[in-house]
Amino acid sequence: MPAPLPPPELAAYVGDTVEGFDASGRALRDDVERLLGPEWSWEGKRVLDFGCGPGRLLRQFLPEAQRGRWVGADVHQPSLAWARTALSPPVELARSPQAPPLPFAPESFDLVLSMSVISHLVDDWAAWMLDLRRVLAPGGLLLTTIISAGYSRTLAGEPWDDTRVGMNVLGYGAPPSAGGPMIMHSGWWVRAHWGRAFEILALEESGLMSGEPEGTQGAVLMRRREVELTPEYLEAPEPDEPRELRALAHNLAQTRRERAELNRSHDQYAQAYHDARAELDRLRRGPRSRDLARRLLRRTRVRAAVRRRTRATPARADVSGRSKPASAAAHAVLTLGSRVRSAARSSCSIWCEAASQVRVRASSRPARWWRSHSPRSSSSRSRRSAMDGRTPHWCHRT
Ligand SMILES: C[S@@+](CC[C@H](N)C(=O)[O-])C[C@H]1O[C@@H](n2cnc3c(N)ncnc32)[C@H](O)[C@@H]1O
Repeated sequence: MPAPLPPPELAAYVGDTVEGFDASGRALRDDVERLLGPEWSWEGKRVLDFGCGPGRLLRQFLPEAQRGRWVGADVHQPSLAWARTALSPPVELARSPQAPPLPFAPESFDLVLSMSVISHLVDDWAAWMLDLRRVLAPGGLLLTTIISAGYSRTLAGEPWDDTRVGMNVLGYGAPPSAGGPMIMHSGWWVRAHWGRAFEILALEESGLMSGEPEGTQGAVLMRRREVELTPEYLEAPEPDEPRELRALAHNLAQTRRERAELNRSHDQYAQAYHDARAELDRLRRGPRSRDLARRLLRRTRVRAAVRRRTRATPARADVSGRSKPASAAAHAVLTLGSRVRSAARSSCSIWCEAASQVRVRASSRPARWWRSHSPRSSSSRSRRSAMDGRTPHWCHRT
């Protein structure tokens, strides 16, 4: 029986839909097996899916998981909770910390898979790489995706040029709900830096899950090197590599552009907020508002009077069977009450309109300010559409 599909919000968390979850998972599995090569066997393997989300890839490997040890680790508690009910057993699920180390003993796995995770780990990427190496057995493999040539136009709004991309960070500080930070890697940089901790067995700058409308990710297959390393050593620029400096300078220019866009967005937001507040104040102080308050007060008094009178005079049924107040005075008061209500309703519409204006303006930011003000204006439309709806940009399909 096929494994269950996650609810829409968890599929969306990894940039997918419930309908697409199975197909994209299968395509991912095909890519993983192609990269591992025909010699690879799953028999008895210990496999970690680092950043597994709700198990898009893991659910494709349930038969293999019966014959080995398969573990999924993620920081996202709702995804883990769901995966636990849907995939465990045979898959084990573990909570990953925000920062390394992982809760596993050294040399626990033969293979670590990490789809669309390392491309979002900005500040502590080197410590994570070393921790993934730590949990690999000697000779163990790490297979990870990268955002590279295949996404340059969509994300950076520019044609791919590896002389100006090393490890370029876009959207630094953006929360996951707004796309999160995205790292663009070029092949030369990966070989130079990751290559210090791992032997690079295969590197593709694009082509994974081809058919994606926004572009395709790349992938790197690596084997653990038996060396002692520090994160600082992994981070250090490659000596005699002129592209290091060019890539850093270009990333600085990209960051400046993003900063300018954010400033513009902030100013627009501040202005919209200021206008909405001023309008609300005007409505609050205006004569119509005082009139509304008076009418509402009268309505309350009329209601109280009606309640008092109808309690004093019991209702009787008319010929149609509906009850009506026995007292003519109470009837008159009720009529007056309904007139007051309709007057109050028309005054209320002013408030509703004001409130909706505030809502409309406020909703344009800040929760989605990053998303709707993408740093690259030339591709802002495609980037925006890629981020629309429930699809966080950092969760593009791998
Ligand atoms: C783009 S999603 C990819 C999910 C999954 N690999 C897939 O392809 O469907 C990135 C995942 O990385 C997870 N993640 C982010 N930081 C993490 C960390 N420090 N440890 C483990 N997982 C992390 C997120 O919670 C999210 O599930």
